Amino acid sequence: MTDAADGSRPAPGSAVEATHMGDPDDRGRFGDFGGRFVPESLVPACQELEAAFRAAWSDDAFHTELDDRLRTYAGRPSPVTEAENLSRRLGVRVLLKREDLNHTGSHKINNVIGQALLTRHMGKKRLIAETGAGQHGVAAATAAALFDLDCVVYMGEVDVERQALNVFRMELLGAEVRPVSSGSRTLKDAINEAMRDWVASVETTHYCIGSVMGPHPYPWMVRELQRVIGDEARVQSKELLDGGDPDLVVACVGGGSNAAGIFAGFAEGPARLVGVQPDGGAAIGRGLPGVVHGSASLLLQDEHGQVSEAHSVSAGLDYPGVGPEHAHLAATGRAEYVTVTDAEVLDAFELLSRSEGIIPALEPAHAIAWVAREAGGAIPTGATVLVNLSGRGDKDAEQVMRIRKGTR
Ligand SMILES: Cc1ncc(COP(=O)(O)O)c(C=O)c1O
Repeated sequence: MTDAADGSRPAPGSAVEATHMGDPDDRGRFGDFGGRFVPESLVPACQELEAAFRAAWSDDAFHTELDDRLRTYAGRPSPVTEAENLSRRLGVRVLLKREDLNHTGSHKINNVIGQALLTRHMGKKRLIAETGAGQHGVAAATAAALFDLDCVVYMGEVDVERQALNVFRMELLGAEVRPVSSGSRTLKDAINEAMRDWVASVETTHYCIGSVMGPHPYPWMVRELQRVIGDEARVQSKELLDGGDPDLVVACVGGGSNAAGIFAGFAEGPARLVGVQPDGGAAIGRGLPGVVHGSASLLLQDEHGQVSEAHSVSAGLDYPGVGPEHAHLAATGRAEYVTVTDAEVLDAFELLSRSEGIIPALEPAHAIAWVAREAGGAIPTGATVLVNLSGRGDKDAEQVMRIRKGTR
């Protein structure tokens, strides 16, 4: 978990303006985005968390414990796989960072192990989480079981239906799943409910947010906990590319944690960074500046400034906002943000399955879909493309089967 060329860790708070993914400023801002927009009752909890994170992040013993858990429990490092058949077919060299091989099946485990360790350091015994696709909920329930914490997971009713198997998994792991029936009954509503719970239980409870969103320090803390993806991938791709970097690093963007994690490893290098959003949830592009879930960012809004609903075949990307650092990376031009349609995603789900024997989650199928569409176009023939395969598709197989049979 290092980000300096000499392998040393910079002290938290030592923001270097010239870096693209440096620390946020004193107010938790990345340029015009970020900050801490929460009810007064939550300000002390955010401050306590920030202090705990700063202390832990500059403590070698914390890193030793975290790295050890990631290695022996989550199964890190995840490999980078050469996608030879797909590469031949597309005329570009595709490398896959295999977060799908992590314990619980996605990158979400990196974040929850870190936050569960912090929960213990803060002396709290209860973890709450929100989930869309269910992957963060499963990961949170898993870490809660590992660290003997009580766990409640909020989930929109629509997602409870779409991701029934993950609901069962969470219950099996000892978590209580609370279905949320307000609003669009998806991720944003689950976050609202989790925030309400946190306001009422802050003395005993840590709110384990699943992406690079929420009030400061969450976007920064979650990016740092996911940075392990990019740090590993940079070393691994150098081995495969004779010391060079890939030409492009591509990841799907919901809140944006897997993208932030892999981008962090390459932000100071030459690679083009590309975030792929669902067509119905393009907060960067179609969104406007606003405040949602505790931070200033870009979000889909109607003409009255009300948050609009996002639509995506993939529950994990069905979110009208985006993490504030992505809004900043878009504003500075360091990263590009593009969209693909549900139909392209379903094609990519099959394409990767058939060409490589890897069934991707619908979320990273967005990244594959963009690469498949743009190979030979926005991606020059012969380019090297590193795709973050953020999770595996077992959770989505039944939904895709139903779509293909035309029963939904
Ligand atoms: C496999 C997978 N990838 C990506 C995401 C999107 O989250 P983020 O944008 O924070 O990486 C999710 C969310 O549930 C997911 O399950």
